[in-house]
Parts: sequence; C-alpha cells; structure tokens
Amino acid sequence: MHLERAQFPDDFVWGTATAAYQIEGAVREDGRGPSIWDTFSHTPGKTHGGDTGDTACDHYHLYREDVALMQGLGVNAYRFSVAWPRVFPDGRTLNPRGLEFYKRLADALLEAGITPWATLYHWDLPQALQNQGGWASRSVVDAFVRYADAVTRHLGSRVRHWITLNEPWVFSFLGHATGQHAPGVRNVPRAVQVTHHALLAHGRAVPVIRANVPGAQVGITNNYMPVEPFSATPADQAAARRLDGVFNRWFTDPLFGRGYPEDTLRLFRLGFPGFLQGPLFPPRVLPGDLEAIAAPLDFLGVNFYTRFVARARRGGQPLGTEQVRPEGEYTAMGWEVVPHALRDLLLRLHRDYAPKALLITENGAAYPDVLEQDAVHDPARTRYFQLHLAACLEAINAGVPLKGYFAWSLLDNFEWAEGYSKRFGLYYTDYPTQRRVLKDSGRWWREFLREGDRVGGR
Ligand code: FCB
Repeated sequence: MHLERAQFPDDFVWGTATAAYQIEGAVREDGRGPSIWDTFSHTPGKTHGGDTGDTACDHYHLYREDVALMQGLGVNAYRFSVAWPRVFPDGRTLNPRGLEFYKRLADALLEAGITPWATLYHWDLPQALQNQGGWASRSVVDAFVRYADAVTRHLGSRVRHWITLNEPWVFSFLGHATGQHAPGVRNVPRAVQVTHHALLAHGRAVPVIRANVPGAQVGITNNYMPVEPFSATPADQAAARRLDGVFNRWFTDPLFGRGYPEDTLRLFRLGFPGFLQGPLFPPRVLPGDLEAIAAPLDFLGVNFYTRFVARARRGGQPLGTEQVRPEGEYTAMGWEVVPHALRDLLLRLHRDYAPKALLITENGAAYPDVLEQDAVHDPARTRYFQLHLAACLEAINAGVPLKGYFAWSLLDNFEWAEGYSKRFGLYYTDYPTQRRVLKDSGRWWREFLREGDRVGGR
C-alpha cells in the first residue's frame, strides 16, 4: 500500500487523542472533586479487575514529558479533555486551581508547536451533579453551559478548537441503558431522555463558546457505527435501518436542523417490541430545544472503530435485530477491522449532512501488546492505521472535506470498563514505573509524519 503524508492536504491536522479520566490520575489534587467515574470504578464489579483512574498514566504530573512524546512523534495537534470535576468540584463552585492545570498544559503544547483541541465533556460528570439527577435531569443543561462558559473564558486565549461532547451515544446508552459505564443506570427511557439533554447542552454551549473565544472553531464528536444489513432481504435492510437510526441518525439529524428522525422517534414511542413495552421517549422536548441543538458547527468530529452487521430476528432481541459477526480480522476489543466502512461513512456524512468540515477525532485499535527488551512489536496496529488512513484518503479524493485525523491514543490508558487490560497507545505505558515506550506502530507514525514533512516541504 502506497501511503505518504504528502498525499494529504498540506494543512491537514495530524494528532493523537486522550481523555482526562483515562490518563490524568491525581484525582484528589488541587481541589478536584469526585466524578461519576471515580464512584463507578470504585464500585466492586464494575471495571476489569477493579481498576480505577486514581493514578492512570499520572499525566497530571508528567504532562511536560508527554508533550515531549508528542513532539517526538511529529504531530501538529493534540486532543485532550478538560475534567469538569477539576473546574467545578462540587458542581457549583469554580476552582481556579483546576483551570490552572489546563493553562499549563496548553502553554506547553503551544510552546512545542502543537495545536490544542479541547473536549469539554469526555464522560467525567461531577458526582455532585449526578446526585441531583445527572444527565437525566434537565438542570444539567444549565450546569454544562456554565462550565463551558467558565472554561472557554479562561482558556480561550490559548485554545481555539473546542469539542463540546464526546460520544453522546455511549454515555447515554452505556451509562443509562446497559449500565456498563458510569453512572451504571439501567433504565432505557431515562437513557433516551439523556440523549436529548446531552444534545441540548451541546447546542446551548456552542454560542457561549463562540462569544468567549476569538476565532473559535467549535464542533461535537459522535461515535459512528455504520450498520450494514446481513443480507439484501427487506427484513435485514429494515433491521439495519432501525439500528442506524438509534446509533447514528438520532445524534446527527438534530445537529443539522432536521429534528429527531421520524422512524426512530416512532420506535422510541412504541418501545422495543419483545424487549421493553411502552413509550421510551416521553415528550420532553420543549419549544426552542431543536433550534438550539441545530446551532451551526464548524466541524463534525467522527470517532470510528468498527461497523455493525444487522440481521432481523423476531422476539427477545431489542429492536428485532441481532448482530452478526462475520469472519475476518478483529482487535482485542472484539471489534471487526473494516476500513471500507470508514470510507463509506465519510462519504455518507458528507452527502447527507454536508458539514463544513469533518475530522476523525478518534480511530485506533487495541492489541495484546508485550513489552520485550524495550520494544513493542505491534504490526497489526500499524496495519490498522495504514488501512484507515488509506480509507480517509479515498474519501478526501472523492471530495469529502476531511481536515484531520487524531489517533487513539497517545499512550495506553484506563480503558473505561476494561480498565488497564486493553492497550490502544502509540506509546506503551509501563504502569508500575510510568515509563512510556514507543511501540513499533508509533515508530511507523513518526516516519510517516517525518517523511511527509520532507516530501511536502512543509
Ligand atoms: C471511545 C472513547 C475513548 C476510548 C476509545 C477506545 O469510545 O471515546 O475514550 O475509550 O473508545
């Protein structure tokens, strides 16, 4: 496969991504309050091996070293998240020391010539707000807007690129329907209400961020799960369409002024036959909500890992659908490697929604890495990146305004319910010593970014 940096646009954003709770540690330092992920990870049985983010990668103390690692890779951007419980530890009172950390981080990045891209919410709601109902309570919208206002007011002179939410599908449904993520609630109607509060919080924050940040670039990151029918039968196609509504269109149509998709609304109103009877979406969309959600975006962030193959099935299965797992390559997460689905997704988002710009805000793979004599040989991960970059290139060449790519992740970190058992990093994290070791895939990235520098004469 012929792949070089110079094939991509000169001003392409090349970055790595992380999230606060997954890397920072220092959970009690400088006035930070507890988040729902502290509570959840400390609840027995919720995470792999009882792992918590108490120390994680100790990035709170090692951030300078970590910025140097990014410099070593040659990236020109870094996507991180701000921990809400550092900024509003009790959900109400501003903690300036929490903000100071992100100022220092942003300064270190800027000094290193790396553009900071900040995500406001990557799943660590202050526990104090959860105690008042969390995302299920409409009051969370005002709390988020206040938080977004405080953060962008203080960091706006340093950080121009803002992502409001990371993956509302995941924190709504895994957090409130299946209970696999914090806050561990299992209540489908509540999860559906959470999706609306999340999108509303996003939409209401957008103009506030713009007002605070000169030249702001504001977007949101969705996780996209392309759904392909198992066969061409009408039943399988309809099954795929149903799931596509719940995974993808529900979170995208309203952002682009179309309101919630009718077919999915109907599903939610009916309940999931054979699984949950009764309406799942009480009509708590108030006048003006949909207009607020449709606030114009500068870019749409896309997190892509895999696809879903759907087969119609009666009875027992939510939405009358079951997942088929075709033969093929899978990562350690059990996620199928399907780069064509990324290309098709980008073409589709461009065709159906025409966002001003698209960025891959996460893409990457976990494999069972082994540290041997200061090296990690991970050819499968390198190949994963190459295949997905090639898919991006195909989309760009077909006219998609794809402006950047962030590899997930800079370094191995706390993989939510999977704890430290899954490694996604370009750097291997040796947790007992906090040493970071560049994996072979990271070496490949370094060469790729360097090579392009030379060829592209940047
Ligand atoms: C995404 C999350 C990110 C990371 C990757 C593997 O859903 O946004 O934090 O855990 O999956």
